[in-house]
Amino acid sequence: MTVHFIGAGPGAPDLLTMRGRDRIAGSPVCLYAGSLVPAALLDHCPPGARIVNTAPMTLDAIIDEITAAHAAGQDVARLHSGDLSIWSAMGEQLRRLRALSIPYTITPGVPSFAAAAAALEAELTLPGLAQSVVLTRTPGRATNMPPAESLANFAATGATLAIHLSIHNLGLVVADLMPGFGGDCPVAVVWRASWPEERIVRATLGTIEEAAADGPERTALILVGPVLGDASFGESRLYAEGYDRRFRPAGASA
Ligand SMILES: C[S@@+](CC[C@H](N)C(=O)[O-])C[C@H]1O[C@@H](n2cnc3c(N)ncnc32)[C@H](O)[C@@H]1O
Repeated sequence: MTVHFIGAGPGAPDLLTMRGRDRIAGSPVCLYAGSLVPAALLDHCPPGARIVNTAPMTLDAIIDEITAAHAAGQDVARLHSGDLSIWSAMGEQLRRLRALSIPYTITPGVPSFAAAAAALEAELTLPGLAQSVVLTRTPGRATNMPPAESLANFAATGATLAIHLSIHNLGLVVADLMPGFGGDCPVAVVWRASWPEERIVRATLGTIEEAAADGPERTALILVGPVLGDASFGESRLYAEGYDRRFRPAGASA
């Protein structure tokens, strides 16, 4: 018996990996994390599967479900939205499973920041503008931020920011970023990237609050940085003529 942790992707059912689909199909128990996991993914469960929404459950109750499946020798598909490496609560479940000697696998998923970048038709690292992407959030009711991980500190680096779990705090986000980025810095908000109801608002740091005022206060990414602006970036060396690299030695014809 194995617990298969599976990144369910950002929303579009066909953004699930084939490995994730196959692991769902092979598991008689499916635990899925609430409304951000699209219902269509549950269609991959085998007939008669036990399907449980874990949104209203405690960690103890989730582990009880898993131990019951373990006792019955039934594999479990454990679905979390996007990818498992960020804000999935996988870490605490893995710790419990290790303590109980219950085997598990981990199948990555398409993260929401990648789906949002695709919706914006944007590369988040552009030569001369930004070479780092910071995946971050603002403090929530249940989560404090380590003091050094402030938006103001990240803004001072000029890196592209993908700010999760924070659309309801847009005013504070803007206030914290303004000193580092300035009011003309491009900003985009993407709600429900890859879902049918996906919505995009593009503005600047100075205008985004007004531009996004009528948007929902949930399930959005705030992307900030010069890479979202005009096309005045350089070309990468990767495909530059005369740039000597292993796969295309200088002087070789294309
Ligand atoms: C609990 S976190 C889960 C993140 C997820 N593990 C991932 O890889 O993207 C939920 C937050 O991710 C962002 N998010 C998740 N799905 C999204 C989507 N389809 N479009 C925009 N933002 C999304 C929102 O900021 C939301 O508040």
